[in-house]
Amino acid sequence: MTTTRLVDLEDAAVLTDLVVRNRDFLAPWEPVRPDSYFTFQGQVAVIAEALERYEEGTQVPRVVLDEAGAVVGRINLNNVVRGAFESASVGYWLAQEAGGRGLATKAVAEMVTVGFQLEGLHRLEAGTVRENVRSQAVLEHNGFVQFGYAPRYLSIAGRWQDHLLFQRTTEDV
Ligand SMILES: CC(C)(COP(=O)(O)OP(=O)(O)OC[C@H]1O[C@@H](n2cnc3c(N)ncnc32)[C@H](O)[C@@H]1OP(=O)(O)O)[C@@H](O)C(=O)NCCC(=O)NCCS
Repeated sequence: MTTTRLVDLEDAAVLTDLVVRNRDFLAPWEPVRPDSYFTFQGQVAVIAEALERYEEGTQVPRVVLDEAGAVVGRINLNNVVRGAFESASVGYWLAQEAGGRGLATKAVAEMVTVGFQLEGLHRLEAGTVRENVRSQAVLEHNGFVQFGYAPRYLSIAGRWQDHLLFQRTTEDV
């Protein structure tokens, strides 16, 4: 793994700096965040909760690294469900200045390896709002195919927004 690694409580300072500086850039694509999210203590709490979920097996929370190994974003496998489903949702964001050079595409590729080979899952899914063509390109580059369209699926930027739903299973090449 070169573009992602497990998040650590020691990442809280750099992640606080990233979410503060990229607040306006990320806002159209994310749920509305409480003000506490943009503080050091808020990021410590976000990371601590994510690591608890990792321990209980419901989330795989990682950071995205740039070519020099600096933290430039986050990527998660969320809602890991076992049994007959063996599925998880992929979610990610990168700082604006780290965009446009393939880092998200590489990070999602690593999460496919994490999900299928390390976690033993069968299926990964991701949803994007219709306008998020960059994120759709990232998913398509990684062999995700659109399987659905969900009206009013998630509250993004404060509105229940329609989403394109993508998935990849272990059978997809
Ligand atoms: C979406 C996001 C993760 C992309 O990160 P990135 O590192 O810039 O992505 P990549 O460089 O790996 O790939 C982006 C692709 O989108 C393409 N792209 C960029 N702008 C585009 C546009 N306006 N129209 C169509 N494609 C576009 C790029 O050309 C690239 O595809 P290519 O490799 O075929 O050239 C990043 O912009 C981000 O964090 N956005 C805000 C949060 C977000 O949207 N998260 C995902 C929610 S589903």
